[in-house]
Amino acid sequence: MTRAEIERLRERARALLPAHVFDYVAATADGSSEAEADRWDAVRFRPAALRGELDAQVATTVLGTPVDHPILLAPMAQQVAAHPDGEIEMARAAAASGTLIGVSTNTAIPFARIAEQGAPWWFQTYLLAEPALTWALAERAAEAGAAAILLTVELTALRVEPHVEPVNWPEGPARARLANLTADERALLGDRPARNPGLDDIARLRDVTGLPVVVKGVLRGDDARRAVDAGAAGVVVSTHGHRRLAGSISAVDALGEVVEAVGADAEVSVDSGIRDGRHVLAALALGARAVFVGRPAWWALAADGADGVARLLDGMADELRLALLQAGVATGAEASAARLARVTGW
Ligand SMILES: Cc1cc2nc3c(=O)[nH]c(=O)nc-3n(C[C@H](O)[C@H](O)[C@H](O)COP(=O)(O)O)c2cc1C
Repeated sequence: MTRAEIERLRERARALLPAHVFDYVAATADGSSEAEADRWDAVRFRPAALRGELDAQVATTVLGTPVDHPILLAPMAQQVAAHPDGEIEMARAAAASGTLIGVSTNTAIPFARIAEQGAPWWFQTYLLAEPALTWALAERAAEAGAAAILLTVELTALRVEPHVEPVNWPEGPARARLANLTADERALLGDRPARNPGLDDIARLRDVTGLPVVVKGVLRGDDARRAVDAGAAGVVVSTHGHRRLAGSISAVDALGEVVEAVGADAEVSVDSGIRDGRHVLAALALGARAVFVGRPAWWALAADGADGVARLLDGMADELRLALLQAGVATGAEASAARLARVTGW
């Protein structure tokens, strides 16, 4: 899938969804929906040559889990507003495409139903206002078969019109979130916002679950270093799809610094604005092991269910293979070693 095709997908989703749902998903910190993708477009490549016959390879592993390509599904809330089966459908797509799905804290689907679809999955957690519930939820995810915990460390407070906030949606899918807590636990939590995590929470989550912890939402080399020193097995460079802070650097601008700080000791992945195979090539060339795709998958789910999401993922993987060949390298690791990509202009 190209960026233009994904834009058509977005327009199909817009036509199908209530405006408040579409606007919630599209929302960014400063209203510029394409800012992150534009920054990926601005990456410049130095294509290599004279490397003989090339056989592009996109299969890899993420924290030891094999995947057919490095394009993973980002954890996103409110997926039942895109499709009544939400993450069940999303996980079916991941299984069909040979990749991994991130499952949001705010899923409306029980872990077991997601796990049944056969795709590897990572559980994304916020630090809930009631700390004991954070550990309980993560333990439940581990028991249900999650392969890692994604600890989101950025706090977003989107400024959207009140009717666009999920708590105010007339159809109420937001009230079905946190499906993996009991009704009593949800009542105890109430509407209190998540807390800002500290370094100790990384080891705590690892010890409670026995799973590797990946810290999601890092934009600085020093923070990545502190996270890895505190026990993180990986970090995700992310602006939460440009939803965090107006005026923030883009994910691609932070990637090189983070890879330099921790790339030798931890797996670095990236998301925000990844919209075509060339963007994935840029991420791999800058040292990422994998990328997460957010809104394009949400739109594909709304437009065409699991088949649409699988088509999106397969299409991006095909484009990545082609982009590798056009760049004159066979793998992401070769792209990185060849210093194929350069970020300019921030
Ligand atoms: C509608 C929506 C809901 C999201 N929900 C979550 C969430 O529950 N937890 C989380 O860590 N990130 C969440 N994210 C952020 C995504 O995981 C990811 O970082 C972002 O969507 C990537 O950018 P992209 O949409 O441009 O691909 C959400 C993003 C969107 C658009």
